[in-house]
Amino acid sequence: AHLWQGVLREFADRLGVTDASTVVTLGEGGTPLLPAPALSRRTGTDVWVKFEGMNPTGSFKDRGMTVALSRAVEHGAQAVICASTGNTSASAAAYAAHAGITAAVLVPEGKIAMGKLSQAVAHNGRLIQIRGNFDDCLEIARELADHYPVHLVNSVNPDRIEGQKTAAYEVVDVLGDAPDFHFIPVGNAGNYTAYSRGYREEVARGVSSRVPRMFGFQAEGSAPLVRGEVVTHPETVASAIRIGNPASWELALEARDATDGWFGAIDDERILAAQKLLAGEVGIFVEPASAISVAGLLDRCEAGVVPAGARVVLTVTGHGLKDPQWALRNADGSDVAPTVVDATTSEVASALDLAPRT
Ligand code: F0G
Repeated sequence: AHLWQGVLREFADRLGVTDASTVVTLGEGGTPLLPAPALSRRTGTDVWVKFEGMNPTGSFKDRGMTVALSRAVEHGAQAVICASTGNTSASAAAYAAHAGITAAVLVPEGKIAMGKLSQAVAHNGRLIQIRGNFDDCLEIARELADHYPVHLVNSVNPDRIEGQKTAAYEVVDVLGDAPDFHFIPVGNAGNYTAYSRGYREEVARGVSSRVPRMFGFQAEGSAPLVRGEVVTHPETVASAIRIGNPASWELALEARDATDGWFGAIDDERILAAQKLLAGEVGIFVEPASAISVAGLLDRCEAGVVPAGARVVLTVTGHGLKDPQWALRNADGSDVAPTVVDATTSEVASALDLAPRT
């Protein structure tokens, strides 16, 4: 049996890794690419879901963090720093813990999901909550990295993009070619950039015949790439992508143009409906930001942009357990009320509408 060794070792030739390289890994990558029959039936397309919540800290960030932390340690860094809406901080803290160095993580106060906050704390991150939004955190992290002995591991660090593009390699590996369309959430647009690079490399290597059209989605209240201007007070339930000034703005526009791509906006209601659909009908539980890929697919199919039978891959970026509160809310905003009964078989049978066998 082959035991998966993490992206740096699995893709050593393509990531320039040798026996002499430092490798800090928690076994990231090699995530499931799952067919989604319920979505295929609904849209008349051939839908596959790249489930990045299956990475060690529950998000795609681990693919880039293994590269960023390995290089940081190789360069003798004693501390890394990042700004985060939650997942990057969880990942940075975990990989830094594994490497035996410090991770300083700057997050917007009260605006990150509880699961992610718990991870940063559990992994001994030096967690600082900033009275401001993600964009403020990133500006401060960049300035600290310029003037203090801390190594920046946000996706403005090219090592992050290097690692994240391995997800596109895996898609091509499993499907035997690139899909026609790829749908993906967009915050800083680092991951959008990474996939488009990975796919372009696969064409250059001669293992795939095409680059998919890259369709990226932002939340309606935080959609600078769609509006074409910075959003100063971004808002959305999808806290992971509550970003008003994407760090990889220029790279994203270049990637969009190179892939005949597109950026769209989805409102919070449709994000939460898509989360429910993916969990309830496909069996994949993701956080709200990730569900925007599903909502984006439905939106573009309704718009008639995705032809019948097209092969479509959706990246779902983070696990639902990171931010579980939304699943316990009904569409009208009320709480889901679990059924409670006495501890008798007949009461349970009746609550389940079961009739006895005849
Ligand atoms: N999905 C999730 C679950 C994320 O956490 C992020 C980014 C994205 C999508 C967007 O990726 O920024 O490369 O366009 N989260 C960052 C963080 C900002 O700090 O965890 P992107």
